[in-house]
Amino acid sequence: MEKRNAHGKGEGALLKEEGRVEFKELLEKRRSVRSYRNDRPLKEEERERILLAATLVPSAMNKRPLRTYLLEDRGLIKRILEEKGQPSIGDCSALLLVYGDPEVQPYRPFLDQEAGSLAENVMLMAASLGLGTVWLGVHEGAPFEERLLALRKTAGVEERCLPLAAVAIGEAL
Ligand SMILES: Cc1cc2nc3c(=O)[nH]c(=O)nc-3n(C[C@H](O)[C@H](O)[C@H](O)COP(=O)(O)O)c2cc1C
Repeated sequence: MEKRNAHGKGEGALLKEEGRVEFKELLEKRRSVRSYRNDRPLKEEERERILLAATLVPSAMNKRPLRTYLLEDRGLIKRILEEKGQPSIGDCSALLLVYGDPEVQPYRPFLDQEAGSLAENVMLMAASLGLGTVWLGVHEGAPFEERLLALRKTAGVEERCLPLAAVAIGEAL
């Protein structure tokens, strides 16, 4: 007979529970990084995994209103972070921009909550790849929000989309 663990689950579940130890370490490993190597583009596998993490996100009524764009133009990233008053973050490899489509999900709190879930997924995936991240908040009316609004065309998102968050990603110094 299959061995049962304390929760009455089978061997497969037990193996997954062993995996929880690693997940705990991952959670501990994710800390905000604000100094990055400035000569380190993302590798293809890292890019793929980060984008995968940005799609494996729960969504109210499965409406999936979020839109993301991985900005890797280092010069532009540097300018954006200087403008935001956090120049040391500008050395990162990429900036994941997160937008929400209010036509798809008109209830604003759900856009913000889903963006939070996405950002956390991406930060943990990056941590699993040995990369550092920091979440960049978007304040209404701040120059950073203006910048993300202006980047909607570059990001290929509809003009009605709202900037919700950004995540800087790169190798920690
Ligand atoms: C909604 C939100 C907005 C944030 N905005 C910024 C930001 O604009 N700049 C920054 O350096 N860190 C930002 N952070 C990161 C926090 O400062 C950081 O998570 C906090 O100090 C805890 O540190 P830890 O991430 O290392 O655990 C933000 C975090 C959240 C959740």
